[in-house]
Amino acid sequence: MNHSIKRFLLFYLLLSITLTSSLTTIGNYFLDNRTLQRHFDGQLTQTVYFIRALISSNPTPAYLQRLQESISGFTTKNKKGPVQPFPFGIDRMQFRVWNTNGHLLLQTPLAPDFDIHNHKLNYGFSTITIGKSTWRVLLAPANSQSKFIIFIAEHYEVRSSLAHELTWGNLFMLLWSYPLFGLLIWLSIDRGLSSLRRITTNISTRHTTNFDTVDISDVPLEVKPMVEALNKLFLRLHETFERNKRFSADAAHELRTPLAALRTQAQVALRAPNDQERKLGLTNVILGVDRCTHIVQQLLTLSRLAPEAALSDIKSFNLSVLAAEIIAQLAPDAIKKNIDIELTQETKHDIYLLGNETTIGILIRNLADNAIRYTPENGSVVVGLTEDANQTTISITDSGPGIPKELRTRVFERFYRVLGTKASGSGLGLAIVQQISELHDAHISLGAPTNGKGLEIKVIFPHKQFDEGTYCAIEPL
Ligand SMILES: Nc1ncnc2c1ncn2[C@@H]1O[C@H](COP(=O)(O)OP(=O)(O)OP(=O)(O)O)[C@@H](O)[C@H]1O
Ligand SMILES: [Mg+2]
Repeated sequence: MNHSIKRFLLFYLLLSITLTSSLTTIGNYFLDNRTLQRHFDGQLTQTVYFIRALISSNPTPAYLQRLQESISGFTTKNKKGPVQPFPFGIDRMQFRVWNTNGHLLLQTPLAPDFDIHNHKLNYGFSTITIGKSTWRVLLAPANSQSKFIIFIAEHYEVRSSLAHELTWGNLFMLLWSYPLFGLLIWLSIDRGLSSLRRITTNISTRHTTNFDTVDISDVPLEVKPMVEALNKLFLRLHETFERNKRFSADAAHELRTPLAALRTQAQVALRAPNDQERKLGLTNVILGVDRCTHIVQQLLTLSRLAPEAALSDIKSFNLSVLAAEIIAQLAPDAIKKNIDIELTQETKHDIYLLGNETTIGILIRNLADNAIRYTPENGSVVVGLTEDANQTTISITDSGPGIPKELRTRVFERFYRVLGTKASGSGLGLAIVQQISELHDAHISLGAPTNGKGLEIKVIFPHKQFDEGTYCAIEPL
């Protein structure tokens, strides 16, 4: 399933806002309610003071009557209609005043049917139900030596309506602000993702041969590791691409001449006047095919030994056995030239080496093959294995012409062959040897043997721990 980060974030951010605002609204409802209660209770107390001021300690009956008459005129026009909580009318608060004998002296017209004799109520605030309505009431003496009791009642509905009204107002504003929230979140995410769009455009519009790394200067921190990994991949792809390009170019270049020679040999065989010449021509064709196969084989080996690739299948293997096997395989070539080839090792026990057995086999084969190929007849080749606590050394010593000092670096270049070398070859063997040595962190040294004649090549493998994590797969050889 394809997820949209934008939609995901928008949904969850709006959900979070909804949850937190709902909780805040509920909390505010209770807080507002408490504040309103205090505020309205304060108003009830003020009204008590007001009534106290109206009735002196000894009001005459005539005064009380006049007072009652004017109080009756305070009410709203529709006396019988329901009490309207908003706007606060005079009907919101009702009161009754009794003398200490319980005789009702004053009352507002819509005062609840509360009788001081029938209801037991302490002085102070209480919430009571009279008839069908709930009232917040305050019962207070007119003053300390007073002969009157004041009862003030307020419809509870007024208070709760106000708290509800405030809460609904908050919710209403919240709902209105939702589209704005959504829009702002959408724009913010869009801006945050703009660098991803830039990278996508950069990658999707580039040419197939463009392996440039993506600029990470303005990439967000969270995306940086992904872009860095992508850049590393580009580098590896670039190297692979270059290697393959070089392989094609090398193959085309190196095979052109032997293939032309093959064609000539085939034509010669075709036009041969007798069987003997035809046989000679076809033998040359076979030799030419072998040479081409060898070149292709060497090129393939080299192209698979990518310098940036690391070794797979690293294990400790028996180097003594491997070297003996290779010498046995090359022995027929040595015998043809009457070359004395031998394997020597200082230790009595077999020598083991930690590395990739296949590639080290290729390394020994190339060096021993050179030694046999470039050593004249009746010469000698010695493959020596030595080891100490720190390193294992493979040395190949021959009695051939050797390599002049000034060319000892150049012979490792691809296709380089020392001028005048008669024996056939593609000039890739030592480049392969160098690549394999580098993969094993080994060191190669070229020199003359102690007797001064020939060539001694040493490949020194330091004993090291191969960290599994840093070594990844190399293409199978
Ligand atoms: N033991 C040696 N004695 C004298 N010259 C050598 C010896 N080994 C290598 N060379 C010289 O170095 C050159 C490069 O050797 P390298 O192994 O790279 O290529 P090659 O043997 O010509 O071809 P390939 O090994 O690919 O078949 C050789 O052509 C040869 O001139
Ligand atoms: Mg060679």
